[in-house]
Amino acid sequence: MCGIIGYIGEQKAIPLLLHGLKSLEYRGYDSAGTAVIENGQLQVQKAKGKICVLEEKIAGNFGQAKVGIAHTRWATHGRPSDENSHPHMDCHKEIAVVHNGIIENYLQIKEELEQKGHVFVSDTDTEVIPHLLEEYYEGNLLQAMEKATKKMRGSYAIVAICVKEPDVLVAARKDNPLIIGLGDNENFFASDIPAIINSTRNILILQDGELAAIYQDRVDVYANGQKVKKEIVRIDWDAEASKKGGYAHFMLKEIHEQPWALNQTLQGRIEEEHGKVYFHDFSMSKEEAQRIHKIAVVACGTAYHAGLVAKYAIEKLLRIPVEVDIASEFRYRDPMVDQNTLLVVVSQSGETADTLAALREGKKKGARVVAITNVLGSSISREADDIIYTWAGPEIAVASTKAYLTQLMAVYLLTLYLGDLLDKIDLPTRQKMMEAIYRLPHQVEEILQNLVPELQQLAKRFAQKNDIFYLGRGMDYAVVLEGALKMKEISYIRAEAYAAGELKHGTLALIEEDVPILALATQMDVYEKMISNIKEVKARGAYVVGFTYEGNTDLTKTVDHVVYLPQTDDLLAPILSVVPLQLLSYYTAIERGCDVDQPRNLAKSVTVE
Ligand code: M6R
Repeated sequence: MCGIIGYIGEQKAIPLLLHGLKSLEYRGYDSAGTAVIENGQLQVQKAKGKICVLEEKIAGNFGQAKVGIAHTRWATHGRPSDENSHPHMDCHKEIAVVHNGIIENYLQIKEELEQKGHVFVSDTDTEVIPHLLEEYYEGNLLQAMEKATKKMRGSYAIVAICVKEPDVLVAARKDNPLIIGLGDNENFFASDIPAIINSTRNILILQDGELAAIYQDRVDVYANGQKVKKEIVRIDWDAEASKKGGYAHFMLKEIHEQPWALNQTLQGRIEEEHGKVYFHDFSMSKEEAQRIHKIAVVACGTAYHAGLVAKYAIEKLLRIPVEVDIASEFRYRDPMVDQNTLLVVVSQSGETADTLAALREGKKKGARVVAITNVLGSSISREADDIIYTWAGPEIAVASTKAYLTQLMAVYLLTLYLGDLLDKIDLPTRQKMMEAIYRLPHQVEEILQNLVPELQQLAKRFAQKNDIFYLGRGMDYAVVLEGALKMKEISYIRAEAYAAGELKHGTLALIEEDVPILALATQMDVYEKMISNIKEVKARGAYVVGFTYEGNTDLTKTVDHVVYLPQTDDLLAPILSVVPLQLLSYYTAIERGCDVDQPRNLAKSVTVE
């Protein structure tokens, strides 16, 4: 995930910028760069790789510059390279820009600017920004920025400097965080608090649509062309917490990043006019789509659970048979895939050895391979025929959370994409789904804001137990498998998930007084069946927590406690229902004093068979 820092003040800018970048390293990045104004000129240094490579380039030549910007880039548009690193500049090398986010209409802007004679040197979407600023510049960088934001679609946190106005840094924000750090005769822009916490603890938080100009001794923030007064927020994090964005663990941070991450996966993939899905790295003709007789989904662990949700969604909406395999099984069972099979491999890291081997096996048999992955340039992304990136930003906690939610989002987008190609989804259904999809990030936010105290209470109870059972039917079954995995990997409690209708074929024998059971009931076509299954365990004395939509108050009659979720389309419910299960696992693990981010025996990326 990219990081930004900008500085103006009395101190030498470069050492401060480098220090700021280093405190953002935990976010993950693949290149870094700085731009400062010195002697009326921009001095730009950029390097692929770690910040130490950039430091080697700078070689201690910090100069005297007191104003500058810097960036760590996590590649999206364009591979990691020196040219694609930020800051980017205009044709005359007078304006430099750093940017987090994605400019969705950059190709169109680039074309227009090229026709006007602008020359581009990178593959990035960001490079259109300094050229747009150059185009609009009439002696006032802030005004140029305002015009540029009107032209751009997408998401951004942008900071710009211009040699003609060396006393100011200008910024704009939409859907990407940006703060202002207030110092003593110095001010900062930053994408994250850790970048500036060593210099100041007083910050202003920019809101979407706001523009800002910072000077050595003054800060101006504007909304809709008017100056606005912002409240100063005082940050009291310690150094360790600041790396984790103020959260106690990376896992909690990543759970809370999920609304943002879902938007990242969605962004730039829905055509505005008709609401149709499209992908930059993947396109298929109608004929190619019609040749697909079967879809095989292959993955491990959490990614496999995302594959199970894919099966329900694709079979329901497209009526194409879907087989889901655990990668380590797939590769050794001589799978029945051929050139009429679409093989979907799902992997957060893109490096999982079993999934990579399964991909190779499928390709060998002639299948077309689409990878859903989070890591640009990973082995799986290099070997797949097509890639759908989830753009969730680096996931550091071993327990996967935001990667799972964004894999689900990618699966839904792929389903809708194929549905359009095959004319399998009628317009009202697609529109209904799209509306529901757009609501999901906000609904996840609601869950995060409303349910924590309730789940913390439940976690206290569960932390005392040795066994927890999870029940669900249909898609809920796929989700409880993920919920149980989360619980066992970080709390070390034996947590087992069952298809609720299967209990009476054996597992019911384990249910006794006070055994905790988490029962999902979001699939309305099997709601009554689910209630009957819950009654079966209640009759044996189990303590049942039910999860259903707001409004389904009848569930209170059957279970001991109900956790209510925002209403959505049943097909999309996994994106919401898994969130309280993640939180419950997290708080249970905390109660038990477990190492949440690095659970025993587990690794983040499993590159061995
Ligand atoms: O990087 P991948 O998505 O291929 O990883 C697959 C599994 O190892 C991973 O999902 C694992 O199950 C998670 N740590 C579970 O939280």
